[in-house]
Amino acid sequence: MCGIVGYVGEQQALDVVVDGLRRLEYRGYDSAGVAVLDATGPRLQIERRAGKLANLEAALAQGRLAGTLGIGHTRWATHGAPTDRNAHPHTDCSGAVAVVHNGTIENFADLREGLEARGHELTSDTDTEAVAHLIEERYAAGEEGDLAAAVRGVCASLEGSYVLVVAHRDHPDLVVGARRNLPLVVGIGDGENFLASDVTAFIAHTREARALDQDQVVELRREGVVVTDLDGVEVGGECFHVDWDTAAAEKAGFDYFMLKEIQEQPDAVRDTIGGRFGLDGRLRLDELSISDEDVRGFEKVFIVAAGSSYHSGLVGKYAIERWCRLPVEVEMASEFRYRDPVLDRHTLVVAISQSGETADTLEAVRHARQQRAWVLTISNTVGSSMARESDAAFYTRGGPEIAVASTKAVMTQLAAVYLAGLYLAQVRGTRDPDEVRSHFRDLETVPALITEVLSRMDATRKLARDLSGEERVLFLGRHVGYPMALEGALKLKELAYVSAEGMPAGEIKHGPIALIDKGTPVVVLATRHALQAKLVTNIQEIRARGARTIVIATDGDETVIPYADHLIRLPDTKSLLSPMLTLVPLQVFAAEFAMARGLDVDQPRNLAKSVTVE
Ligand code: M6R
Repeated sequence: MCGIVGYVGEQQALDVVVDGLRRLEYRGYDSAGVAVLDATGPRLQIERRAGKLANLEAALAQGRLAGTLGIGHTRWATHGAPTDRNAHPHTDCSGAVAVVHNGTIENFADLREGLEARGHELTSDTDTEAVAHLIEERYAAGEEGDLAAAVRGVCASLEGSYVLVVAHRDHPDLVVGARRNLPLVVGIGDGENFLASDVTAFIAHTREARALDQDQVVELRREGVVVTDLDGVEVGGECFHVDWDTAAAEKAGFDYFMLKEIQEQPDAVRDTIGGRFGLDGRLRLDELSISDEDVRGFEKVFIVAAGSSYHSGLVGKYAIERWCRLPVEVEMASEFRYRDPVLDRHTLVVAISQSGETADTLEAVRHARQQRAWVLTISNTVGSSMARESDAAFYTRGGPEIAVASTKAVMTQLAAVYLAGLYLAQVRGTRDPDEVRSHFRDLETVPALITEVLSRMDATRKLARDLSGEERVLFLGRHVGYPMALEGALKLKELAYVSAEGMPAGEIKHGPIALIDKGTPVVVLATRHALQAKLVTNIQEIRARGARTIVIATDGDETVIPYADHLIRLPDTKSLLSPMLTLVPLQVFAAEFAMARGLDVDQPRNLAKSVTVE
């Protein structure tokens, strides 16, 4: 949600900034803009356009903006419609200050009123423009030409969440950035430095990075980077090396990132589970500041997450309850803290988030920590806000996920929740080491099974194309199949814009069965498990009412054949692990269905990859 890039160095800033914005497109946006400093003027040259980056590039083609310092932005509209006028960067009265902003300034109405009363003329509907004018005032008055001090002063007066990146026409070698609640990463180069919402924007130039902490301000110059707190006191911080390169963030011959990411799943799971046992033969997490004694003291677990990550959490409940005999509640992060959940020092909160930046989940993490609960974050993003604010982190090593619809991130989250369950069981002694090892060995067989499933997907693609005219599809599952029914429905909704609903198969007779009409497509997740016989009965019930049944079943299972209009076969695996196989046809089905409708499966309408507003 909103992408930000800042650059100062020897290269033409426009090229670096626009390339960075393109790499951040996946975050979702509806307008884009840049500011490049012409040091000879000096003046800030600004171009901004509603719509996709192509519109901005067409405008830029009329006259290239030359200069070696620039800032850029892709905007996902919150305050004000996605128009040219509301696109970032925004400026002050004289055009000396240019600001790009991600987030929402909650006291914006008061700030704006004050500025207008003091004679400022604001020309957009955004909250961001007020920030440019506030910097103008501070710079001219109290701070006397110190841009970073002016930004610090303004930040102290802002309520809400923000990343700000600021350029000033009188400073040809300085970009200032600031953050609260949202991510801002510094890319450290040689004679050039970068700022961005995430490392994807600058890995073509450098793989050395430093994430800013809460309420920090960075001064970015060609020769170096200084980070301070809001009082201007310099603060230390750790750099990290990004261990993937640009190739990992490109399409590699696939029409869409999503299709590439689906194919990457066997390797993503292998990487996620690899090297998890220490020399002592015990399973370990990536970062941990919870003692074994405290782990043994847990009396309850909450799993909090949003969207697809929530579905992974639902599967996690089955694993943790089975192996650890600990009660687990799974909750949508957006609801969690507002109902005042009962949390204490004997509660573990597991936050699951691909990005590690989703505002709902991040706020749930903060709430949990305020209540003194322990927090373990499962994330695909090393150094993300959630990981840094938690007591323990478990990184899924899925590599960059660019498509808005989550695929390999969900797959690796499933691997991670199993491992987290086994870790808890190991420390709490609810499973002996041999059993932990044995479950781990089962998990190790999964990447090859996913490869096998991927090789069988032609019939699923054809079926999806045949059904792509349908406006309603139901998904049914039981036990761990139920979360995957929810995931199959979410994938179809977000990609194909059809009405899709996931339900527990046993629940359908309590109402939803009324939805079934002649020919209604119903996908049933019927891989072999303890509730198989009941599920077969459920399939009969819906088929008797005219449903067109698409049954996902285990190789060799004959029981479902009489009731399946279409059969998708999967290799056998342990029932608890079956979501890692059923997920694949659901992803392929949704992608193919949407593509057959002529839709862009990487950037579905109205959606952002990382949702950083509540
Ligand atoms: O980065 P997160 O895992 O926290 O994101 C959570 C959801 O926004 C995300 O899973 C969303 O539902 C995806 N579009 C699903 O494909």
